[in-house]
Amino acid sequence: MRTIRLLVSILLVFALLALVGCGKSEPQQAVAPEPGQEAQAAADQSEVILFSWWTAGGEAEGLQALVDQFNAMHPQVKVINAAVAGGAGTNAKAVLMTRMMGGDPPDSFQVHGGAELLHTWVEPGLMQPLTALYDEQGWREKFPAGLIQIVSAGNEIYAVPANIHRGNVLWYNARLLADNGIEPPTTLDEFFAACDKLKAAGVTPLALSSRNKWPVSHLFETLLLGVGGPEFYRDLFAGKIAWTDERVKGALQALSKMVGFANSDHAALTWDQASGKLVAGQAAFNVMGDWAKGYFMTNQWQPGQDFGAIPSPGTDGMFIVITDTFGIPKDAPHAAMAREFLKVVGSAEGQTAFNLKKGSIPARVDAPADQFDQIAVRFMSDFAKDTLVPSCAHGSAVKERFATALSDELSVFIHKLDVDAAALALEAAAKDAGVRPE
Ligand code: GAL
Repeated sequence: MRTIRLLVSILLVFALLALVGCGKSEPQQAVAPEPGQEAQAAADQSEVILFSWWTAGGEAEGLQALVDQFNAMHPQVKVINAAVAGGAGTNAKAVLMTRMMGGDPPDSFQVHGGAELLHTWVEPGLMQPLTALYDEQGWREKFPAGLIQIVSAGNEIYAVPANIHRGNVLWYNARLLADNGIEPPTTLDEFFAACDKLKAAGVTPLALSSRNKWPVSHLFETLLLGVGGPEFYRDLFAGKIAWTDERVKGALQALSKMVGFANSDHAALTWDQASGKLVAGQAAFNVMGDWAKGYFMTNQWQPGQDFGAIPSPGTDGMFIVITDTFGIPKDAPHAAMAREFLKVVGSAEGQTAFNLKKGSIPARVDAPADQFDQIAVRFMSDFAKDTLVPSCAHGSAVKERFATALSDELSVFIHKLDVDAAALALEAAAKDAGVRPE
């Protein structure tokens, strides 16, 4: 039943996604090359170069769990971790582009399903098809059809999903809420009432980071969803609603108010440093994807005890979907070993080990829930029944040009706090990027 509901709901959201356009082993024994890849398989396979931006707490451990499983299968292959630090790929995406264009591709890289994979890498013909690997591993039945759809182009599949992250999550320090007699707030009104109370008690209500632009975009898309609901959210990113709409202005007003309740040093902090303020008891709330849970747990913070999580204000029954996938560049130097790595990524064991550390839930429909914490179990059930929408801040909802313009504009907005000017600028940027009609 869970599987059927899961398939139906994910098909719906990813149909939308499609619309918005979004040391040495014995490789000869271990490797089953794709047709046409025999030459590469015969080449040096003594190492494998993995590219990601997973260096923060939780992220790094998740990646290591995959590497450990790979190493157990291929003890003599040297894994080169070519990660570039910076949440949401702030720095990594530019480095990857340079490597890919400069003839120095990694063997496999992390990429969000949807627009980021398909527009940036598949359409220019820079990726290897993985369809034969899917068939060999029986993966077509193991991943939701809608998820396979957003890593596919034409008749070929180009990446293996490692997880499902949830974007719209309000994290809270359980002790600070209990000490101040506050129930986890489910609406924006309740959230701001809680902020008033915390501020009066001398507690910083919200941990925010804006050293990189994306955490503000991330927060803002949760507000768009909370203020306008899923249909509005989809239509807005599909270019059917103007950015001067009252609901956009309502979300901007809410963002402005949230900035007023945030730590004053947000411009100096990265996402994990902001989450760290909860661990240190220096702030009560944080809106962040569930990679924050990976960070909390790496810091020995226990879910349901030290911290809790609920859908961000106004978004109960809604789920902002973020999926990390791995693909193989066409000219990957050790492509056969990259395929061996992808076998780990797509395996039930790999997904369990990775997601237990990463904070996300497995992308495979058959992954058992029993080892996961109560927040993950709730998010598995929500994912199966909630209304799913794609993330803009994490590469799926809209073309990169507009996503970048949006985060640029918001980084101005959080200092000027001029709602009308920001709405006009966003509408102009949407037209400029071809997201809205002229
Ligand atoms: C997201 C990515 C997550 C996590 C986060 C912070 O874009 O999907 O896996 O890494 O960035 O770095």
